[in-house]
Amino acid sequence: MTKNKKLLAWVDEVAKMTQPDKIHWCDGSEEENNMLIKGYVDSGVFTPIPKRPNSYWVVSDPKDVARVEDRTYICSEKEIDAGPTNHWMDPKEMKGILTGLFTGCMKGRTMYVIPFSMGPLGSKISHIGIEITDSPYVVINMRIMTRMGKAVLDVLGDGEFVPCLHSIGYPLTDGKKDVAWPCNETKYICHFPEERAIWSFGSGYGGNALLGKKCFALRIASVLAHDEGWLAEHMLILGLTPPNGEKKYIAAAFPSACGKTNLAMLTPSIPGWKVETVGDDIAWMKFGEDGRLYAINPEYGFFGVAPGTSMKTNANAMLSCESNSIFTNVAFTDDGDVWWEGMTDEKPAHLIDWNKNDWTPESGKPSSHPNSRFTAPAKQCPVIDAAWEDPKGVPISAFFFGGRRGSFVPLINEAYDWNHGVYMGSACASETTAAAAGAVGTLRHDPFAMLPFCGYNMGDYFKHWIEIGKKSSPDKLPKIFFVNWFRKNEAGKFIWPGYGDNIRALKWAIERVNGTGKFVDTPIGRLPEANAIDMDGLDISADDFKKLFEIKKEDGLAEVAEMREYYKKFGDRLPKELSVELDKIEERLKK
Ligand code: OXD
Ligand code: MN
Repeated sequence: MTKNKKLLAWVDEVAKMTQPDKIHWCDGSEEENNMLIKGYVDSGVFTPIPKRPNSYWVVSDPKDVARVEDRTYICSEKEIDAGPTNHWMDPKEMKGILTGLFTGCMKGRTMYVIPFSMGPLGSKISHIGIEITDSPYVVINMRIMTRMGKAVLDVLGDGEFVPCLHSIGYPLTDGKKDVAWPCNETKYICHFPEERAIWSFGSGYGGNALLGKKCFALRIASVLAHDEGWLAEHMLILGLTPPNGEKKYIAAAFPSACGKTNLAMLTPSIPGWKVETVGDDIAWMKFGEDGRLYAINPEYGFFGVAPGTSMKTNANAMLSCESNSIFTNVAFTDDGDVWWEGMTDEKPAHLIDWNKNDWTPESGKPSSHPNSRFTAPAKQCPVIDAAWEDPKGVPISAFFFGGRRGSFVPLINEAYDWNHGVYMGSACASETTAAAAGAVGTLRHDPFAMLPFCGYNMGDYFKHWIEIGKKSSPDKLPKIFFVNWFRKNEAGKFIWPGYGDNIRALKWAIERVNGTGKFVDTPIGRLPEANAIDMDGLDISADDFKKLFEIKKEDGLAEVAEMREYYKKFGDRLPKELSVELDKIEERLKK
């Protein structure tokens, strides 16, 4: 166990408040994992998947299926420090509400204490958290998603940790029977940035409950990063090796469910190129002594969106979850496997759907929830990068920002300099998807793909990025690109095939990093010269290809006007450097 006084006192205090029957300190062992899984199998909550060794199928309460952004709060001392993009409540007031909800909330249950490390154990870039939860599902998933258990306590010693308190909010009192997916109608996902603490109540799903991921590795870590001069970002990390063998690492930010996992594990469609995966969702980056930014993936597994994942779209993700994986809210096949929309061209004739009802192709509704997920160990990825656990991290040569944009935004666009790149990050917007509760398909601003994940005032976050650019020289800092795989033609069809062909944009980016890629300067940035994108073996009409890069002056000016309006939101917290960038784009467009 531990002698860490702060930890022992916190566990004691939480136990007094939540009143569990038992306390279990997780050691992370296989026996412990088997014991928890057996409990769920015996009660019918988990179904073993015969076709996938040591893998289980589980479905959630239909009302607990995604991150709940409208119930997510940044409880900073001052409202202005949470900023205009976060929900805020006074920390004392919120603690009052939460204390009420947490009092007695673990009655009849076991309270699990999960020591976990975000990042390789002992890396200078890593940080330790302790999650307390009453959900064995959370323990099982945290064991896949983080380095978890006794070894973490050994590294922690007397050191600092981020306390992450979670309850599904379903006490078993007065003979109340348990249900398959206990949760509470009332949900609160709360962050206390000054205290560096997390309290989450009422949900057992994904980012609401696996607190190492969005709550710690992004919301709280972004605050740490701001204060300490590093970056905690919603970015995948990939290693790209060209035929000449000179490998470079790229980190890329896209809003939720825009294909980060697919890009991170891409199978290149041009021969001789190789992509290897360091991470698919989050990057923590600190400066090395050489002035370059070094990134680690703080996670240990993938929590990937299942629908749309197939051997065609992402074979490496499919191979990652062949065993030792948990599948939540997908469908179950008659021959003992899981299935989801898009996994195969042909739909199975019969399934048990994610509501545990019979399903046939005639049912008229999807068999799997659009935000259904697989939880798979990262080390099972066939293209996991040799350096993915390197405690030093990997040096980043380029940043990509992007989103789903049907029009205006070109396939790839290079920033003129760091501040222009920060503008690009701030201008990320995307047509919404199912990763968060709410309407699907409307355009929303999602700066740096951090809208739901920035733990402080987004204006200060922009400023932090500007400041990062002053900490090193332009030749050491990553080059910044904006990409868009989702541009449509007049017929409403995607022009770009995406997936493995995205290597063509990556290739040009690497050529730019090396100073060789041919370019043309335009009002909105540096675009590839005609023929500078490798189109060998790709069937796109010349007309459509041109459209991928078309910038109409009136569209550009409309975008500038829209961004100017959007920036007003940030008031005097908007760094002046970004207004300057906007003015420069406008001037160039008007020339
Ligand atoms: C995720 C998300 O789950 O961004 O990664 O929603
Ligand atoms: Mn994500």
